[in-house]
Amino acid sequence: MTKILLNANENPCNLPLEMRQEIADAVLDLNFNRYPELNSDALKVLLADFYNVSAKQVSVGNGSDEVLGQIIYKVPADKSLLVFTDDFSMYDYYANLAGVSVVKYERDYKKALDPTDFVEFAKTQEKPVDLIIFSNPHNPSGAVVDATAIKTILKGLPDVRIVVDEAYGEFYGQSMVDYIEDYANLYVTRTLSKAIGAAGVRVGVVLSNAENIAVIEAGKVPYNVSALNALAASIIVKPKYRSAIEENIQKIINERDQMIKALNSLELKPGESLFVYPTESNFVLLEVTSVPIIMKKLKKADIEVRDFADKPNQIRLAIGTPEENQQVITILKEVIA
Ligand SMILES: Cc1ncc(COP(=O)(O)O)c(C=O)c1O
Repeated sequence: MTKILLNANENPCNLPLEMRQEIADAVLDLNFNRYPELNSDALKVLLADFYNVSAKQVSVGNGSDEVLGQIIYKVPADKSLLVFTDDFSMYDYYANLAGVSVVKYERDYKKALDPTDFVEFAKTQEKPVDLIIFSNPHNPSGAVVDATAIKTILKGLPDVRIVVDEAYGEFYGQSMVDYIEDYANLYVTRTLSKAIGAAGVRVGVVLSNAENIAVIEAGKVPYNVSALNALAASIIVKPKYRSAIEENIQKIINERDQMIKALNSLELKPGESLFVYPTESNFVLLEVTSVPIIMKKLKKADIEVRDFADKPNQIRLAIGTPEENQQVITILKEVIA
């Protein structure tokens, strides 16, 4: 039985066959004996077109993970990184590696963020905040901070670098990329790993004004994007494939909405409870009773989802194919409905 992987928020569909064929053909002509481009300059031009910015506003990483690390490493020892509680684990991971102090703002993902309170919190830290990073949509809840609130934060903290991690931005449809020239302290990260369906390729970007990008580039290792990754990415982002990508995103969004409807219409057994976090992403966070039994049954059916040691009543499900989602619903039904 093949495993059903709903644990890493990946795209359930492989890249279209035509795209994979074009990549395969191009690989034959690759000069494997040569290093790739030092700073991915040709790829930057294509990614700039894809994200509707200029090439000077792009730095490319081995996944957006790498660019997040490059940004975090720049926090000086006497300053701190501010993140929300329960956000993407790699922010802590890189901060720990680099010995960067981390401050956490307690956020209730069932409510909208109060940006004024957040700005006040940032201003009153003992170790001045140098950098803020948050995922938007947020992983794992799927919650969002809207553009108006983000602008309040950008304006309220003009000397703080603010990274909006839009790994799942395509599912939300609203992006801060349009504002990178309006706010000197704004950085946006994007990736080919989620909505685009190319997690295996490991290509992500940070988008910001040219000055900020030059600083990031000065701190990165040469040849950080392999020739194979760059080749695949340069084909994936071709304009002729955009409509296929868009269609796939829309399918996942529709499937997500179906899934939420199905979850919310379960008639629960006495003593069981279920809260489905509203989500603007390709995954859904559940607060649910009987997590150990649900996990056991999912495991038995070879379905992998994400649970959390520190939140024993939560499960995060990536949206899969309609059949995969149906299997999850059936198991949840057996346990709680
Ligand atoms: C919020 C968030 N940001 C960034 C990433 C990293 O993505 P990648 O390194 O594949 O671009 C992930 C992956 O799960 C994520 O959830």
